[in-house]
Amino acid sequence: MGFLKWPFKDKRNQQMEQDLDQLKIVPDHVAIIMDGNGRWANKRGLPRFAGHKEGMDNIKRIVKLANGYGIKVLTLYAFSTENWKRPKQEVDYLMMLPKEFLDTYLPELIEENVQIKTIGHFEDLPKHTKQAVQHAIDRTQDNTGLILNIALNYGSRSELVETVKSITADVKANHISVEDINEAMISDRLFTARLPEPDLLIRTSGEIRLSNFLLWQLAYTEFWFTDVHWPAFNEKEFKQALLAYQQRKRRYGGLEA
Ligand code: IPE
Ligand code: IPE
Ligand code: MG
Repeated sequence: MGFLKWPFKDKRNQQMEQDLDQLKIVPDHVAIIMDGNGRWANKRGLPRFAGHKEGMDNIKRIVKLANGYGIKVLTLYAFSTENWKRPKQEVDYLMMLPKEFLDTYLPELIEENVQIKTIGHFEDLPKHTKQAVQHAIDRTQDNTGLILNIALNYGSRSELVETVKSITADVKANHISVEDINEAMISDRLFTARLPEPDLLIRTSGEIRLSNFLLWQLAYTEFWFTDVHWPAFNEKEFKQALLAYQQRKRRYGGLEA
């Protein structure tokens, strides 16, 4: 049956290309839970770190594509507040990757006009990680292209706890009253303040869960899940997600226009 399958598949791919050429509704903000590095490596009989390395290289490929599609913000979940539970050796390796990524790719990212930002508890990262990332943030702050927003030591629940604390402190100090508290105030105090909410969330590697990612910000985001592991998430997959997004009807609780 294999010989029967491929021409049909090829035709469908051609159709997809055409559909994407006419793509009008490109999401402004795409967020990705880059999952499955370990399983990708495992499947190939490689150690987990090899999956993380390949996953890191894939970031560059996806950033380039996102830039080309006209996406404005790409938020990538790179390390969660819960990932500290992993063996020290793996955590140490993951904490070394931002420097390796930036040593390799920062010149290209600058050339592509990419602006680097982060969300998460930056202060609690190891010094060498902070230094490399801060350098990239400073170096790209005036760039006007795609915002590459890396979620590093990010956890949505702790983000919300910090927000509640900061609002409570302002109430206590009489800077604001309880009546002043509204949705915009909460949004403005999250790590994502000044960024639009994600339009599309992609999670790779088959898990159908959020793993403490952007719980507030994803309230009306469109979700797209794939079984493909992050290191293997490629142009074809990315286009499929964007095409699916294009066909969604976003109603925000209202009625279709
Ligand atoms: C995603 O891949 C990277 C991080 C969470 C840092 P995983 O390391 O979670 O890979 P799996 O899920 O074990 O395959
Ligand atoms: C989510 O993946 C975090 C990142 C991709 C950085 P995990 O692999 O940590 O999620 P769980 O543990 O399967 O929920
Ligand atoms: Mg995982």
